[in-house]
Amino acid sequence: MTISAISSGSAGPSGPSAHADPTTSPTGGPTGDPADGHGVPNADGRARAPEGILARQRRRESSARTYARNLPIVPVHAEGMTVIGADGRRYLDCLSGAGTLALGHNHPVVHEAIRGLLHSGAPLHVLDLATPEKDAFTAELLSCLPGDLATSAKLHFCGPSGADAVEAALKLTQTVTGHETLLAFTGGYHGMTAGALAVTGNVTIKERLRPVGTVVRLPYPYPYRCPFGVGATDGDCPDGARLSIQYIERLLDDPCGGVTQPAAMIVEAVQGEGGVVPAPDDWLRAIRRITAERGIPLILDEVQTGVGRTGAFWAVEHSGITPDVIVMSKAIGGGLPLAVIAYREELDGWTPGAHTGTFRGNQLAMAAGAATLRFVRSEALDLRAAEVGARMLADLRTIAAGRPCVGDVRGLGLMIGLEVVDPDAAPDALGTRPADPHLAARVRAECLARGLIVELGGRHDAVVRLLPPLTITDAEADRVLAILADALTAAASPPR
Ligand SMILES: Cc1ncc(COP(=O)(O)O)c(C=O)c1O
Repeated sequence: MTISAISSGSAGPSGPSAHADPTTSPTGGPTGDPADGHGVPNADGRARAPEGILARQRRRESSARTYARNLPIVPVHAEGMTVIGADGRRYLDCLSGAGTLALGHNHPVVHEAIRGLLHSGAPLHVLDLATPEKDAFTAELLSCLPGDLATSAKLHFCGPSGADAVEAALKLTQTVTGHETLLAFTGGYHGMTAGALAVTGNVTIKERLRPVGTVVRLPYPYPYRCPFGVGATDGDCPDGARLSIQYIERLLDDPCGGVTQPAAMIVEAVQGEGGVVPAPDDWLRAIRRITAERGIPLILDEVQTGVGRTGAFWAVEHSGITPDVIVMSKAIGGGLPLAVIAYREELDGWTPGAHTGTFRGNQLAMAAGAATLRFVRSEALDLRAAEVGARMLADLRTIAAGRPCVGDVRGLGLMIGLEVVDPDAAPDALGTRPADPHLAARVRAECLARGLIVELGGRHDAVVRLLPPLTITDAEADRVLAILADALTAAASPPR
C-alpha cells in the first residue's frame, strides 16, 4: 500500500466516541452515572450494559488497574483482529493482549485444540505431572528453539506469567553460579514480581519498594535518545551501540568498577515496554561474546518478542546468537496463561522443588500453545510478520514525514512504535525533541474513537505501540495506518 492509497474516509465504522474519555472517578467510587450498578442481563443472564460494567469495575478494582483506564471497552465478541464491545462498536485490536495473541482472537486452530482437549475428558489440572498434552507441547517448543537449544535444552514450566519465568531464570542462574549480581539494561521491562521488577528499568513503579538484590544497570542502545548523546550513524552497530559495548566490557573488567562476578545478564532483543527499541544485531553478538568470555549466563527475555512477532521465530535469531537461557510466555500459550524457561543442560543445577508452584501444568494452554506454535511454523507467519511489518514501517515513516509530532518511527516485524514528541519544543543537539506523553494519550484516544485499539509504552509513555496479530491482512494493515494517520492529525490539531 502507498500512503496516497489511504483514504481518511475509510477510518472506521465507529465515528467519534463517547469512550474517548475514561471519566475515571479519582476516588474510584461511583461516577453518578445513572447506569452505574445496573447492568442489564442479556438472554444468557450476563449483565451487558457497558456503562454499568465499567462503573462497577472502577468501583471494585484497584487503582493499579492498567489498560482498563485508557481503553474503556467491554469486549463481548472477538474474532481475528476485530473486537466488538457490549455497545456494539467494532474495534481493530492492535494490542493483541499485549502481544499474546499471535493468531488474533478466537483463531480456529486454537479453538479446535481447546475443544479437543475438553471433549477428551483429560484432566485439566495436573500440577507438573507428565501428560500427552505436555509431551506434545514440549516436543513442539523444543523443536522451535534456536541453535543447539533445540536438541539439548532443559525446560522448566513456571507459574503462568512472564514475570514468574523471569524469576525462575534469575533464581536458576543465581543458584547455579553461586553469585548474586544481575546485569540488566536501561529501558528493560521484565515484569512486576520482586526480582523481575528489580531488573526492570522503570523507576516510578518501584521507587517506594525495597530493592531486591544487586542489579547493575547497563546502557541499552537507543539511537533516538542515545544514553551517550551521540545517536546513531547508519550501519550494523551505530555509534551509541558501540560505546555501550565498550562501556560494558571495560566496566566488567575494571577491578575497581564495583561489579562483583555476575550471576547473569538479562536482555530483550527488542525492548517492548521500553518503547519498541530493537537492539542492533552486532550489538547482541558483542553481548554474547562479552558474556561468554566472562562466564556470565546470558538470559534472553523473549516473553513479548517470541513466536514470530519480530519477523523471526525468536527475536534473538536475527543476530544468530544462542543465549544460555530463554524466557518465554505470552504467545506460547496460544492466548492462555503459560510460561516456560529453556536453558542449557549445564545450568540444570536446581534441587527438586526449587521453583515449584501450583499452576505450572495448564493443559488447555499447552494444547492451545502447541497448536499455535505449529500453525505459526507451518504458515511461516514469522516471515509474514517481517513482510507486513516492513511495509507498515515504511508507510508510517511517510505518514510521520509530514507530522512534526512524530519524532521517530521504529520497530521490527510486527512490533512497531511511533515516538510522539512536542513539536513546539526546541530540539537537542541530536535533533530530538522532548517526549509528549499528553499528546500521545490524545493520539491513543483519537485512535479508540475511530475504532483502533493501541497502547502507549516507552520511557515517557509517549510511544504509540502497534502489536497486531501475525495474521493481520493487508486490508487490516491499511486500515490501521489510515486510522492512525487520522488520529495523529486530530490529536495534533489546535487547540492543544
Ligand atoms: C519482555 C517482557 N518480559 C516480561 C514480561 C512480564 O510478563 P507478565 O506480564 O506475563 O508477567 C513482559 C510483559 O509485558 C515483557 O514484555
